[in-house]
Amino acid sequence: MVAAIGLMMFPEKIYSINMIKIRKPEVTDLNFILDIDLKSTDDPWTIDQWRGACLNKDSYICLATYFNDPVGFIICNTAGRILKIAIKPTFRNKGVGTKLIETIKYWAVQKNILGLGIVVPESLCYTGNICKWLNKQGFLANGILKDGVKYCGIIEDGFLFLLVLRKDNE
Ligand SMILES: CC(C)(COP(=O)(O)OP(=O)(O)OC[C@H]1O[C@@H](n2cnc3c(N)ncnc32)[C@H](O)[C@@H]1OP(=O)(O)O)[C@@H](O)C(=O)NCCC(=O)NCCS
Repeated sequence: MVAAIGLMMFPEKIYSINMIKIRKPEVTDLNFILDIDLKSTDDPWTIDQWRGACLNKDSYICLATYFNDPVGFIICNTAGRILKIAIKPTFRNKGVGTKLIETIKYWAVQKNILGLGIVVPESLCYTGNICKWLNKQGFLANGILKDGVKYCGIIEDGFLFLLVLRKDNE
């Protein structure tokens, strides 16, 4: 019992990737999702936007959970565009993001989606290591979307990263 309480209080100290489970969101997860979004992205969605996304048949959302509490999410549409991926700061660099990408790849293959794409704001490419991380996941830079994204409230160019899952003629 004491060990179980300690586990909940200091998850990052005894954390193992095998304890991260992937599941679909439920209404009770919304506050966790909002919190992760707020702490991780410059354009956090409102609760109504998240509700809409959860109900949208063209979106697929996966949560990474620790003791059933969400610690990360990925949302992708049926065109293969990853709209958001974010991991709670204390759970980063432990393989959670990789696990979510693997899940979305599996889903996309089942849905006959040819490839996955994600747009990274230019500023984020220069300040963080997101591009290197995407390369590690198999995504390759595929072009620039001129004035394609909003970052910190300012419209700027975005780098499009693509991961080919299946050739068109396969
Ligand atoms: C980008 C982001 C989603 C990555 O998620 P993450 O869970 O931290 O990533 P991972 O842990 O899977 O991979 C990070 C590193 O952990 C390492 N790692 C540690 N344990 C691991 C394990 N068990 N399995 C796989 N990788 C592991 C990986 O090798 C990787 O190493 P690297 O730094 O050399 O690339 C996360 O940092 C984030 O939420 N950032 C803020 C939001 C954001 O920028 N979103 C993208 C906007 S375009």
